[in-house]
Parts: sequence; C-alpha cells; structure tokens
Amino acid sequence: MINGIKLAPSILSADFSRLREQVQECERAGADYIHIDVMDGRFVPAISIGLPVVEAIRRSTGLVLDIHLMVVEPEKQAGPFIDAGGDIVNVHVEAATHVHQIIQDVHRREKRAGVCLNPGTPVGAIEEVLPDVDQVMVMAVNPGASGQRFIQSALPKVARLRRLIDEGGFRAEIEVDGGVSPEMAPRCAAVGANVLVAASAIFNERASVTKNIRQLGESLAAVGA
Ligand code: DX5
Ligand code: ZN
Repeated sequence: MINGIKLAPSILSADFSRLREQVQECERAGADYIHIDVMDGRFVPAISIGLPVVEAIRRSTGLVLDIHLMVVEPEKQAGPFIDAGGDIVNVHVEAATHVHQIIQDVHRREKRAGVCLNPGTPVGAIEEVLPDVDQVMVMAVNPGASGQRFIQSALPKVARLRRLIDEGGFRAEIEVDGGVSPEMAPRCAAVGANVLVAASAIFNERASVTKNIRQLGESLAAVGA
C-alpha cells in the first residue's frame, strides 16, 4: 500500500510457465492483491483462467486473491471460485441478472463482494447496491485482454463514484482495471481510486516485476504530495 493505494498485479500478462515464482515476486515487491482474470469465452471472447489455476495460486501466496469474473451467469461461479481460494469476488453488472443476490451469497460465505462496470455502463447501474458492496471495479478498457489503452472517461466516472461513496458513508473501495501505467496510476488515485490493477505495466520485457512494481509505487508516492 502506497499513499493509501493498493496494487493488484493482474497475472493475465504473467509468464504462466513460472506462475508461482511470478506471484511470489509480486508479494515480495509489496503487492497487496493478486488479480485473477477469469474469462469464459462468452462474456468476452477469450478463455483464460479456471479453478485449478486459482487453487494453485492459493497454494503459492498469502496475498488477497481478487477474482474478476468475466463470465455469463456469474451466480453459478461465485461459490466455486471462493472454494478455490478467492477472497474478493467481482461480478460484472452487465452479466448478473440477480446482482444483489450474488452479493448476499458472497457475504454469507464471509468473503468480499465487488461489482464491475464496463466502460459503457453508467454508475447508476450499481447505485442501489452501493451500500452493500465492498468494492466497485471501474473498467478503463473493454474487458477481454491486457495491454489496451486507458479509456479516459473512466476518470470522471471514478470521481462520481467517489462522491457517491463518501456522501453515503459507504465502505466500498474503488478499483480501476485496465491500462493502468505509471502515467495513469496517479491520475486514477487523484480522482479517488484506491485499488489499481495492472497487468502489462508489471509483467513485461522491459524490466523485472520488482522494478515495475517499484516504478508504479514511485508514481503514486507523488499523489497529494
Ligand atoms: C482486462 C482485464 C484486466 C487486464 C489488465 O479484461 O480485466 O485485468 O489484465 O491489463 P492491463 O493492465 O495490461 O491493461
Ligand atoms: Zn481484470
């Protein structure tokens, strides 16, 4: 945690042949969560990570596992991904017919519940559940792949959410996912985000995971200074 901001490396860009090592490097470098992108080939075209991989990550780290369900019928998947080791279960409001019920189910299992908003989905879509959720994830890219450009309209959206959460006295944290770089991270934090997901800015050919996490941290150290 740097300046009150948590870092959640997304393993989508990791070297899957060395996943344990890479996850543990994130932990040593001071990451707060490991963000796990679950794609079903239906909500988004790609198929990514399933239960056995989450179980393996659970055995590799003590960090909070932040599960991002990019799946249709997320009500069927929340339970299994908690059983596999998930600590925070995030569901897309566009995919969930009974989003309130999923939040209740996750809480019944004593885990944290998050709701995700695609770039085209308004904040109003989750206003009724805002008092109940532990996290709101604002997508700054269209879900489906890492390495995309940050969509700027996510910034005023985060600011709007921050106002609603603060005015209501709610506990929800605001996570930004997609296109987060050392350039965008402080701008997200400045408008009120407090959890930042990053895949390609952390797992890349340019530098080590440790160095990239340190660079993101340094970009955040300047926020509000
Ligand atoms: C996109 C995923 C993101 C993705 C982020 O569908 O939800 O978590 O891995 O990748 P970057 O940080 O490269 O935009
Ligand atoms: Zn994600």
